[in-house]
Amino acid sequence: MANLRKIVFCGMIKILFVCLGNICRSPLAEGIFTQQIEEQGLAHLFTADSAGTASYHIGNLADKRSISVAAQHHIKLTHRARAFVSNDFQAFDYVVAMDKNNLYDIKKMMPLEAKTNVFLMRSFDHLAPDGNVPDPYYGELKDFEEVYDILARSCAKFIKHLQSAHAIR
Ligand code: 4NP
Repeated sequence: MANLRKIVFCGMIKILFVCLGNICRSPLAEGIFTQQIEEQGLAHLFTADSAGTASYHIGNLADKRSISVAAQHHIKLTHRARAFVSNDFQAFDYVVAMDKNNLYDIKKMMPLEAKTNVFLMRSFDHLAPDGNVPDPYYGELKDFEEVYDILARSCAKFIKHLQSAHAIR
């Protein structure tokens, strides 16, 4: 479990999910997180966005396979890919990396004075063999379904953590 500071924020708590291309994993994470907070009546407390450490797909909708897996779970993905930028450290309270390469790239950009909580998505997954949400881009639909399961499990635990860290009932 990530070692996160206990802080009570004023206003909305801002979460940014980050992967490489911002078309497969992180938009799906954003969609799942948003669905879960809406189902739990917590949507007024959080905002979620996603970004990529690479700029190959800027402006594109999510990969068709992420859109399809999300739709099977009644989640509509409308996000357009954007690059992770250094201003995101000021704009977000939490930056959540999909894998260790993303985490490395994010931390390289992190100013020393930044207070942002930066951690791996699967630090909240008790079934995390190596800590990475596997990159499904060169895979098949079943790989996207596996990513969905990992993200749904991790987001549920992450939300529980946020409730505890911010004294939200
Ligand atoms: P993502 O997946 O980081 O989960 O969005 C990828 C998307 C595109 C590429 C690699 C991974 N790419 O090489 O274009």
